[in-house]
Amino acid sequence: MTAVAIDGPAGAGKSTVARAVAHRLGYSYLDTGALYRAVALAAIERGVDPTDEAALESVAVDLDVILSDGRVMLNGRDVTDRLRDPDVTRIVSTVAAHPRVRAALLERQRTLARSGDVVMEGRDIGSTVLPDADVKVFLTASETERARRRAEQAGLPTDEASIERLRDEIAARDRADATRDVSPLIHAPDATLVDTSELTVDEVVDRIVDAVRAVERAAS
Ligand code: C5P
Repeated sequence: MTAVAIDGPAGAGKSTVARAVAHRLGYSYLDTGALYRAVALAAIERGVDPTDEAALESVAVDLDVILSDGRVMLNGRDVTDRLRDPDVTRIVSTVAAHPRVRAALLERQRTLARSGDVVMEGRDIGSTVLPDADVKVFLTASETERARRRAEQAGLPTDEASIERLRDEIAARDRADATRDVSPLIHAPDATLVDTSELTVDEVVDRIVDAVRAVERAAS
């Protein structure tokens, strides 16, 4: 069984790259951000305060979520698009910073990873969730480039003022993710750093696929 861990800040292109790598290799694709977003959405719907750790822990423990083929089902409802809405994005880093929420989702992520060959994407996959992953990549890109990509992806305006606003939002989320006490966003020393600012998606995907094939060859 081969595990590929792809971590990095918001908007670095992790989802696009991870999905394409999984597709090329015939592995499953797991977006762990979707789990944290699902907890945030369930909290919004139940009126739970994003600073109430105990209440959020039970939301995370009871979470009826299924990740399948890039879609996310929460309580049997397809919430894939809803998870990207601004109200969820605004609180998700606060929700994800609670140690008890992270603990509740940790085993769930490891169980998902044990189901076969996987490409798992998030913030702490190489450092905490799958420290023994066969290939670890830390994807990044300049803040402006990440803001530009987010705007294009979400069909938002791409004028300078809008990009600047988006860049501030992304920077604030990265700061929250990188400075929390438990499992912060870090570039694990054994993860290969790939700055995607000047690379096409295909170039990034090729590099990762080559690294995985090298590992597979060495193991066979
Ligand atoms: O990847 P995405 O932007 O959907 O992640 C949403 C949020 O979920 C991140 O900003 C972070 O706060 C949290 N997250 C995390 N650990 C992960 C994946 C996501 O803390 N492994």
